[in-house]
Amino acid sequence: MPDLGARHHGAMTTSRRALLGGGLAGGALLLAGCTDADTPSAGPGSAATATPTAGASPSADLVVPDFDPEDWESVRAQFPLDPSVSQFAAFVLSPHTAQVDAAIDHHRRRLAFDTETALLAGIEQEAAVIDAAAAYTGGTPAQFALTDSTTMGIATMYGGLTLQPGDDVLSTTHDFYSTEASLRLLEQRTGATVRRVTLYDDPATASVDQLAGKLVRAITSRTRVVAITWVHSSTGVRLPIAEIGAAVADINRTRERPEQIVLCVDGVHGFAAVDVDLPDLGCDFLATGTHKWLFGPRGTGLVWSRDWGPLTEIIPSFSGPDGGLRLTPGGYHDFEHRWALDQAFAFHDRIGRSRVVARTVEQETQLKEGIAAIDGLRLVTPQDPEVSAGIVCLEVPSMLPGDAVARLRERGVVASATPYATSYLRLGPSIVTTPEQVDAAVEAVSFLA
Ligand SMILES: Cc1ncc(COP(=O)(O)O)c(C=O)c1O
Repeated sequence: MPDLGARHHGAMTTSRRALLGGGLAGGALLLAGCTDADTPSAGPGSAATATPTAGASPSADLVVPDFDPEDWESVRAQFPLDPSVSQFAAFVLSPHTAQVDAAIDHHRRRLAFDTETALLAGIEQEAAVIDAAAAYTGGTPAQFALTDSTTMGIATMYGGLTLQPGDDVLSTTHDFYSTEASLRLLEQRTGATVRRVTLYDDPATASVDQLAGKLVRAITSRTRVVAITWVHSSTGVRLPIAEIGAAVADINRTRERPEQIVLCVDGVHGFAAVDVDLPDLGCDFLATGTHKWLFGPRGTGLVWSRDWGPLTEIIPSFSGPDGGLRLTPGGYHDFEHRWALDQAFAFHDRIGRSRVVARTVEQETQLKEGIAAIDGLRLVTPQDPEVSAGIVCLEVPSMLPGDAVARLRERGVVASATPYATSYLRLGPSIVTTPEQVDAAVEAVSFLA
């Protein structure tokens, strides 16, 4: 392990907790040395960043822009997005908040000025990021590994499992390319067999019982891994992970440890629309990028695990030998982005997870109801909130999804086309959109019919 090893251990713990204490609990206004008295009054879009002058020695303090978490306009003003269009594609690659950008700028300047000192300080900062992840999503810090993306997390899960010929991996036909390709590599590496079941033919009518039932009935005595996706970016269908996890746990109670099933989840699109702690979700491993639902720094993500035991690391760790540190891929990273991730958690934490979720679900419901009422369009995503989660897909007969995206852009609505063999038009409301923009989006979509 290189010099940078032994991160996050021993004496670090106390000081990093002290560091974080003023952050999440106290409003995330300071990382070090800055008091509330230094903070300008809150207001929509107010931005006071005490970053050092270029070329000067960077201050030890980071002051992040303040905002009013109770006021959605103030929340939205923290995104330096083009105000002339409505952003319904945040679930593809999220924009940074002003807070994340301030932190990136701060860490970049410190790295530029004295790279070695910044790198050493980064040991504590990385621990603060993990603490912030655990505080927001539930679980303990040791249950988190940091990655650069969902895809890196998915590869960490499926690349690290030990299987043998004859073992069965149960997956679905609805997963994103990153899961499909990682499972192909798992097959090649171990000789295990991957089976893919179709959980629904018509996504719009999917139900909890149908989704969980079809998957669980496909489990055999040889199944060792269930590999699924929380929210299908192809259709907007959300799988009932808790029900599936409970059924898997029942089966595992009848099996010896080596034959037990591990439930792995690509969780990238779930959090903005489901208010749940990771340990309660029901899976064993979950990989997610934090540059979609969390509006975190581009090039960041995490893996959560109930128990890291079944996984061997595929990239040597620079972080430590235990827990999630062992599964945190090593090599140096674009640290200014990774270290700024705690600001994304702090931003959401100040708003409140349940409020973020309620805001997303409220607009998603409004959008689906509006689209369902338009003759000539087909809503693909279920209207049932139990099996959907923010993403809204629709079919526009006689128009390619890419063309529909272009037409909507002309009307000031940013949407996306799903990157799957059967492609749909997709919109994702979030904390950057408003109910008024949803109404305008419904109207814009009606012109496609
Ligand atoms: C379900 C799902 N998983 C994984 C990814 C890839 O995410 P990342 O770019 O963070 O690797 C995507 C991309 O949008 C996705 O929709």
